Amino acid sequence: MSPSLTVSRIAAQQGSVLRDLRTASLREAPYAFDETLEDALLVEPSSFDQTAVLHANSPRLATFLLYTEGHACGLVHAYIEDAPEARAFVSALWVAPAVRHLRGGELLVNVASQWLAEQGAAEVHAWISEENRTAMRFYERLGFGPTGDRRAMPSHAEEAESLFVLHMHSERHA
Ligand SMILES: CC(C)(COP(=O)(O)OP(=O)(O)OC[C@H]1O[C@@H](n2cnc3c(N)ncnc32)[C@H](O)[C@@H]1OP(=O)(O)O)[C@@H](O)C(=O)NCCC(=O)NCCS
Repeated sequence: MSPSLTVSRIAAQQGSVLRDLRTASLREAPYAFDETLEDALLVEPSSFDQTAVLHANSPRLATFLLYTEGHACGLVHAYIEDAPEARAFVSALWVAPAVRHLRGGELLVNVASQWLAEQGAAEVHAWISEENRTAMRFYERLGFGPTGDRRAMPSHAEEAESLFVLHMHSERHA
């Protein structure tokens, strides 16, 4: 039987859970993210505590955690950029290998997108490494498409990433 998967917003006291998930994701899928494991390990653990407090309460930043049988097994960040365009993004998406292909990634992105919509966003963006064909297929299956914007990855300057966008009202609520 498939384990049941649930998603909830991070709670203020879950800094150590956030640190564990983030370091696990950077260790397991270093090709996928703008930060390196070394970067994350250099960050003071107390900084994850501060991030958890912020992401539990802010109207512009949130982290959503995936659980199976009470264990945290994935995450996604959702944020509205602090710039005049105020575009909405999901980032840092990761699902533990043991629970992949069970729609946990889809649940995380859906819950994060719903929260961004509640904050007023009509579109959700995601930067995806061009090497990461799995993530591209995953996001395309959810209705995201390429914007044509590209940039060098901050963590691996020799790699490029592409900006994808989901138009929520036309795709999600059709
Ligand atoms: C991308 C990721 C979050 C998907 O999580 P998931 O819980 O397996 O996703 P879902 O079960 O909701 O959807 C899986 C779908 O994504 C696509 N997909 C996932 N893994 C795939 C793979 N290895 N090859 C091809 N397509 C794949 C397929 O469309 C797949 O559908 P299927 O399971 O019916 O074949 C997960 O593979 C992951 O954490 N990867 C490493 C980190 C990463 O790349 N993050 C994204 C950064 S932009």
